[in-house]
Amino acid sequence: MPALENNPALVAPKRTSPLFSPGTGPDSALVIFVLGGPGAGKGTQCSNIVRDYGFKHLSAGDLLREEQDRPGSEFGDMIKSYIKEGQIVPMEVTIQLLENAMNSEIEKSGNRKFLIDGFPRKMDQATKFEEVVVPSKFTLFFDCTESTMHERLIERGRSSGRADDNEESIKKRFRTFVDTSMPVVEHFEKEGKVVKVDANVDKDAVYEKVKEGFSKRSVPGKE
Ligand code: ADP
Ligand code: C5P
Ligand code: MG
Repeated sequence: MPALENNPALVAPKRTSPLFSPGTGPDSALVIFVLGGPGAGKGTQCSNIVRDYGFKHLSAGDLLREEQDRPGSEFGDMIKSYIKEGQIVPMEVTIQLLENAMNSEIEKSGNRKFLIDGFPRKMDQATKFEEVVVPSKFTLFFDCTESTMHERLIERGRSSGRADDNEESIKKRFRTFVDTSMPVVEHFEKEGKVVKVDANVDKDAVYEKVKEGFSKRSVPGKE
């Protein structure tokens, strides 16, 4: 693996102000972060939100897996080992992938509403993204017990083909979630920017609460 600090492709954008302004006007982007432990149901609920509110769903984990599998990627091996170990990939990679995906969606469809799923999972990602890309509107947080998440991940692992849906990786991912990602949720909570939803109930019941939260925060629907 090349040393991160010596790799020109791995330098976070040098901008000192965000690329977009928050909102829905020209030169803007509306970003909702979606957080919750592994298996809490983030991806599942994002599909509902996309259907009803017209957001573009960007899963940081999916983007990393795509980059990992892209022939010729210089980050493939690095991403693979971070994912297997349940560790957080250095933010420069993930922020660049997200920024590219946002630009490409805007170019393609003009849609400027983004659900950013599974990000930021570490404080440095949160700070840097809001500094160089756009401040988030709020964070949608799926609150779920470890035993529920464990059960869901083992079930998902029967067909997901994911290298990290196994006992050993799951244990590591839970640890990273508690130690590294929960502080991000707590940070946004202090800013009054968290919509918390109980994710232990069935999929429809979770989504009802999501819609309530979105309505309270005046999230715009489809145009
Ligand atoms: P995440 O993206 O947070 O890791 P997923 O959306 O992939 O979680 O969900 C993990 C697994 O749990 C999937 O197999 C999904 O079908 C299932 N699942 C999601 N939400 C619920 C729910 N509320 N009740 C039961 N199973 C769920
Ligand atoms: O969100 P998902 O469960 O798909 O993420 C899978 C893995 O991708 C994480 O366990 C982590 O290794 C990596 N990841 C990351 N930084 C993010 C999101 C995911 O390093 N912001
Ligand atoms: Mg997911």
